[in-house]
Amino acid sequence: MSSDVEMEDASGGGQATENGNSSWPSKGLDKGKGKAKAKEEENEDSVDLLPWVEKYRPSTLDDLVSHKDITATVERFIDANRLPHLLFYGPPGTGKTSTILAMARRIYGERWKNNVLELNASDDRGIEVVREQIKSFASTRNVFSAVGGGTTAAPGGYKLIVLDEADAMTTAAQGALRRVIEQYTRNVRFCIICNYVNKIIPAIQSRCTRFRFNPLEMDQVEGRLDHVIDSEKCNVTQDGKEALLKLSKGDMRRALNILQACHAAYEDKIDETAVYACTGNPHPSDIELIVGSMMNDEFSTSYNYVSSLKVSKGMAMADMVSGIYDFLMTLKLPPTARIYLLDQLATIEHRLSTGCSERIQLSALLGAVKVSVQLADKAKKAGHKAK
Ligand SMILES: Nc1ncnc2c1ncn2[C@@H]1O[C@H](COP(=O)(O)OP(=O)(O)OP(=O)(O)O)[C@@H](O)[C@H]1O
Ligand SMILES: [Mg+2]
Repeated sequence: MSSDVEMEDASGGGQATENGNSSWPSKGLDKGKGKAKAKEEENEDSVDLLPWVEKYRPSTLDDLVSHKDITATVERFIDANRLPHLLFYGPPGTGKTSTILAMARRIYGERWKNNVLELNASDDRGIEVVREQIKSFASTRNVFSAVGGGTTAAPGGYKLIVLDEADAMTTAAQGALRRVIEQYTRNVRFCIICNYVNKIIPAIQSRCTRFRFNPLEMDQVEGRLDHVIDSEKCNVTQDGKEALLKLSKGDMRRALNILQACHAAYEDKIDETAVYACTGNPHPSDIELIVGSMMNDEFSTSYNYVSSLKVSKGMAMADMVSGIYDFLMTLKLPPTARIYLLDQLATIEHRLSTGCSERIQLSALLGAVKVSVQLADKAKKAGHKAK
């Protein structure tokens, strides 16, 4: 977990001109406050209808089950009123958006929506938006803060501009942001969120304190899953939970989505088979059969067997490749054979992602397994000879 701290000098040329409550330009909330309030109340009533990822989105920093070092650092920044510009990056479903929303609630309390301009990939974020919308929001200052009681004037009162999914922003728009970030540091803090940090231009990266959100640890996902399982009264078996954790790969959003889908489809009992059937991922026992046949049967027999299993179980070739990869890790193979097979799996996965024919890739995979079996035999013989 990194936090390459590159703090910025908190001086800027921005002018504090008006009360910060006034602007949230893109959403037009100011016009229909009554309506918005009614809508929010309605939303609260229908919280049960929300997908579980939203229903169980952590609302405070303490609710986040991971990245305690990041939340602790951010909390210290907030308490000391020295929040720098932030750059959160990391794979999906690891809590980046949730962290910034929880931070906003922590800083502004109930008024957070008035003090935060949140722009994500669904909003236009071309260069005009940077020049107009972001600049006009940034040129006004916030005078209230929830830190220290809720109604006290904030000494360094700033608002937040959250640029979610910023890797989708054009380079020109990012370029235009450079000066805006510096110029309005007195009034606003930017929080830039993305999956791929290399898509953010270096000049912006150097203006922000960077935090990497790693995939969640299994036990962290498990802790949160247990909470949801209890609250929703799901009937999940131990092997079902293990399958869920394995398939989530550290992505909390994926774990919750799979759980909800399984709960809808298999209400009485969610076991390993149910989880794999629900997600369309090949069951480990099927993968074992496939690899066994590829290693031991003759080429065309194995090809026919695997193809028919693939059709009858509705497996996608890409899922099969990643299942075989997991299984391979549990097998004892001589290094040459393992390395060869891993390399081939990587190539086949890449080809599949570019839309190649599954039939041809299946035969290539079968060929690769056969070659690696030969390599394994050779290595074994060489080993015996050496003895
Ligand atoms: N650390 C966490 N603790 C608890 N729940 C989490 C955590 N991370 C993610 N979640 C769950 O996953 C959902 C998605 O999280 P979030 O939107 O914060 O992900 P993200 O990192 O912004 O992903 P993306 O890069 O796809 O935008 C949340 O609604 C929440 O239910
Ligand atoms: Mg997000």
